[in-house]
Amino acid sequence: MMLHIPDVLTPAQVAECRALMDAAEWVDGNVTSGHQSALAKRNMQLPEGSPAARQVGDLIQDALAANPLFFSAALPLKVYPPLFNRYEGGQAFDNHVDNAIRHLRGTNFRIRSDLSATLFLTAPEDYDGGELVVEDTYGQQRVKLPAGHMVLYPATSLHHVSPVTRGARVSSFFWIQSMVRDDGQRSVLFELDSQIQRVAQALSHKEPAVVGLTGVYHNLLRRWADA
Ligand code: NI
Repeated sequence: MMLHIPDVLTPAQVAECRALMDAAEWVDGNVTSGHQSALAKRNMQLPEGSPAARQVGDLIQDALAANPLFFSAALPLKVYPPLFNRYEGGQAFDNHVDNAIRHLRGTNFRIRSDLSATLFLTAPEDYDGGELVVEDTYGQQRVKLPAGHMVLYPATSLHHVSPVTRGARVSSFFWIQSMVRDDGQRSVLFELDSQIQRVAQALSHKEPAVVGLTGVYHNLLRRWADA
């Protein structure tokens, strides 16, 4: 399942992030790639663990922790500390699948990437090209979102970033290990939760059917989740 999560960051938060990032030193993006993707990737990146990456990453993680749509869709167990890239002057990232396991250098932190996320940090009118193109079962999805908005997609997907032909595209990207590994099960839980919220709003949170359906949700989660 692919999902657009609007307003993960407010415009003021985007501006704060950009000020920190634009003042920082960037390096060649291939420092984080696996062997296959190193051949395909042409971009710049904030060094992992650098002060700017940490500070902006913490701000993003706090915003995600307070975002109910992100929680419902991702059912996150672990979130990889956000990384940051910049494409300009024709830079692009050819088709690839993200690595299955991500290990945070110098630590014991390791995740299985179930979901990939891109948080856009540049207004779409400020650059041409730079769409995130994801192959899913319905065909190619071309994604270019307002600054502060995020797309979540299965990490199993083949995807690429098309060349940026004007301006610069700055984004954050990271991975999530979900409590529910299977994308199909996670999608059913998300749909069920969304519909329960709709019914609760239309009727009442105390409506017996809402209480019952919430029980069904939790009992499915209990069967499928690892915490
Ligand atoms: Ni990728």
